[in-house]
Parts: sequence; structure tokens; C-alpha cells
Amino acid sequence: MVNLPDLTPILPWYGKHRRDLPWRHTRDPYRIWVSEIMLQQTRVEAVIPYYERFLDALPTVAALATAPEAQILKLWEGLGYYSRVRNMQKAARTVMEAHNGVFPTTFEGILSLCGIGEYTAGAIASFAFDLPHPAVDGNVLRVAARLLAFEDDILAPTSKKQLTAAVAAAQPKDHAADFNQAMIELGATVCLPNGVPKCEECPLCAICRARAEGKETALPIRRKPAPRKKEHRTVLILRCGDKVALRQRPESGLLAGLFEPPVLDGIHSEAELLQFFTLRGITPLRVAPLGDAKHIFTHLEWHMVGFEVIIPEDGVDFLPSELFFAPREEIDRRYALPTAYRAYRPFM
Ligand code: ADE
Repeated sequence: MVNLPDLTPILPWYGKHRRDLPWRHTRDPYRIWVSEIMLQQTRVEAVIPYYERFLDALPTVAALATAPEAQILKLWEGLGYYSRVRNMQKAARTVMEAHNGVFPTTFEGILSLCGIGEYTAGAIASFAFDLPHPAVDGNVLRVAARLLAFEDDILAPTSKKQLTAAVAAAQPKDHAADFNQAMIELGATVCLPNGVPKCEECPLCAICRARAEGKETALPIRRKPAPRKKEHRTVLILRCGDKVALRQRPESGLLAGLFEPPVLDGIHSEAELLQFFTLRGITPLRVAPLGDAKHIFTHLEWHMVGFEVIIPEDGVDFLPSELFFAPREEIDRRYALPTAYRAYRPFM
């Protein structure tokens, strides 16, 4: 067991330096849950407008439980990791059906909901109900690893366990919420990643072992992630009159259920596309390059080239039945498209 020293100096520091964030004005577990799920993998500044919009549209667990899937995907459009919001809807239905519409008030009850792990359960339990559970996300792991001059890979399960236990033991039980927020805040604004901590602003500088040993920029240690797989794709903005072709992605897997323009595997040239369509009985009125784009997912990279392909009305019959044509304003209003296609959105 690794032991952290007294961390209570972060409480007055947090009182003075905390950012004024919308989810810090509520104790409603539903609102806190929405914020915490959005904040996984997404920066605070980017989350704020999504948070406001989502809660305006779906202000209660009941509203989320009954919302059409297209609406929740549209509200999430641009945030990525769409399984997060699908899992939220599953969990909302569980709250309605198994908990009489009342959000669970215990750590175990919260943890049992779909898509809620140890971190999120600890965050909701402490922020909404002041329950003394830790909330150790990547920010807090980094803070703890530096305070302890912890030399193992912080993402290894045993490291996470050790560091989480140390943070839990250091948590003042009568200030669970503020302590957890303060640790997150310290990691997000002072104990920064990528070798640039602002130690001179840190309320824990005097007790930080990494700092004392001159290792604050070298720590924490993170294993090198596996190299991302690369996929090459040709994106077709297929236009017929004032409408653009879309298809829905499969119900499971990457970007499940979202809408996208038709895509061919591999990188193709203008001449190859012309041949591709001609062979299928369609004579394009125009094939024009729209440039290259790249999108990086956690484990995957898409390297894309885009083309605008204008086809005549009578060409539509020769297209695969999975494609449908949508007018531009409907795409904006109704269909959630992955950010991966951002470079080609202006042409849709
Ligand atoms: N990141 C995760 N949870 C957060 C919170 N409650 N406030 C700010 N950033 C966060």
C-alpha cells in the first residue's frame, strides 16, 4: 500500500481557484451524470455547450429514457464515442423501470447502471450525495503518481488500484465532494500532463515527491499505446439534384447507427470513380476532388480522399438500396453524422 500525505491544503486552494462550471451548481445526480459522461474524453470548454443543450432538451431521467434514438445521437453529434449516450439511455430506462424513476442514492446502486464505472459512480456519489467515495480519473491518477513519485505505468490495473486506494485513504470523509473536485481541478489546471506542470502554483508543491526528486516532468510513466491501425477510404458526396446520399452505419461497432456518405475502401482516383459508376450503369455529370482529410480515433486512423459525384435522376435506381437521399436542411436537423467527415460537411 502506498500512502499519500495530508492533502487537505487543496480544499482552500479549490475554494479560491475553482473554475465556475455549470455542473458545479447542481446536486442533481442526473445532471452530474450527464456532465461526467460528456467529460470522459472531451475537454471542459467543448462540453459546456453540449451539456446545456442536452439538458434543455432532456431535463430529466424520464425524458432521456423515452427520447427517440435519433434525437440523442443528434444531441451528441460531435462529441464522439456514441456508445456513451446509448448506454446512458439504457441506464435511464433502468432507473425508470427498476428504481421507480428515482436515481440510485448509493455507490453500488449507481455503479450497477449501464456505462457507469468506478470513477463515474464515485463522482456522482460524492458530488450529488456527499458519499465518501474517491473519483480517480486520469487527472487524479497523474496528481497521485507525482505526489508519490510513483514509477510504474499508471495505466496498469495494479497501479490504478494502488493509486485509487491511496487517494481514497487521503480523502477527508466530511468533504468528499470538494476533495474530489479539487483533485480533478488540480490535475486539469495545475498538475498538467505532457511535462508542463505549474508547480509554482500548486498547493501541494511542498509535499510532492516527484518535485522533490526533480521528476515532475518525467512522471507519470505511461506505457506506449499500440500503434493505431490505418484505414484508407474514398468518401463520395453523391449528389442528385439538391439532395445528398447517406447511409446508416451498422447497429454495432464503430460509430454505430450514425449516418454517413457512401464510402469505398481504399484511395481511388477520379478516373477510377468514373469507371466505377459507368460499370454500374450510371454516367456521372461531374466527378470533382474535394481534398484529403484525416481523422484519428483512439485505436484507428482514417485517411480519406473526398469526391463530389453528381449523378442524373435516372442513375438513382442503380445505387445500392442502403443509400437514401436527404435534402441538406434535413441533414443538419435530423441526421447525426460523425465528426470524422467534418472536412466534407460543407459540400453536403
Ligand atoms: N473532468 C471530469 N469531471 C470533471 C468535473 N466535475 N469538473 C471538471 N472537469 C472534470
